[in-house]
Amino acid sequence: MQKHNLDPATWEQFVASRRTTRDFLPTPIPQELIDQILTDAMTAPSWSNTRPYLVGVASGDKLQRISEAFLARWEQAAKALLSGFWGKLKLLITRFGLPKSDYKVNRRYPAELKPRSARIGAELYGLLGIKRDDHEARQAQWAKNYKFFGAPTSFFIFTHSGLGEYSVSDAGLFMQNLMLSAHARGLGTCAQGASALWADPVRAEFKVPKGYKLLCGIAIGYPSDDVVNSFEANRLPIAEIVLGGK
Ligand SMILES: Cc1cc2nc3c(=O)[nH]c(=O)nc-3n(C[C@H](O)[C@H](O)[C@H](O)COP(=O)(O)O)c2cc1C
Repeated sequence: MQKHNLDPATWEQFVASRRTTRDFLPTPIPQELIDQILTDAMTAPSWSNTRPYLVGVASGDKLQRISEAFLARWEQAAKALLSGFWGKLKLLITRFGLPKSDYKVNRRYPAELKPRSARIGAELYGLLGIKRDDHEARQAQWAKNYKFFGAPTSFFIFTHSGLGEYSVSDAGLFMQNLMLSAHARGLGTCAQGASALWADPVRAEFKVPKGYKLLCGIAIGYPSDDVVNSFEANRLPIAEIVLGGK
């Protein structure tokens, strides 16, 4: 094992203090900083050291084009969702706003996990003063995903389908390293499943080799003082995840 100087109390405080950022300043991130964060992320473990992932880095015009394409699709989908049966039917016929993801993104939550997801939704929207039945306000909040919450840069993570679940697991380890590295350097991040709902606008901006699928995005930038960034998602006690014996 290699030696390090980090004391456990500092680590404990550091890792617990990372929180998802959902409002960013437009301040650009220097290229050296992006490179350093990616270098840190590459120290994550990986199945047989294969690193079965690729990263698209988008800022400026590239990110703007992706944002516009996402928003056009989201607006169609959101309109149809609000307009009931006929709107949904039109969406089915035109298909423009329908998700065209590489991985299945919009899954139904298993019954035992649904309350956890409902809780985060209720608490986040509660902090923002958005009522449960205010569908328009909820949609407007969700649409912020497609402006990357104002972030100047977004990573787009692709994984090799040939390694199945293990490429996704490796990408998860890489992503967590990346997000902690950003946090250590005063940057905030938001992992975004929302960015994987439509793969074509992202694929249009990068040379993606055959076999790679878009897993998700990570918006990155300097956090603003907006109230949304004071949100603290609940953290489950370990008793909720440690299995009992037979
Ligand atoms: C793979 C993945 C996808 C996510 N997608 C979104 C998203 O599309 N939009 C969003 O606002 N947050 C998204 N999140 C952030 C989670 O909601 C957040 O991590 C969780 O509520 C715990 O909060 P914390 O990160 O502040 O600890 C995603 C997180 C992960 C790991």
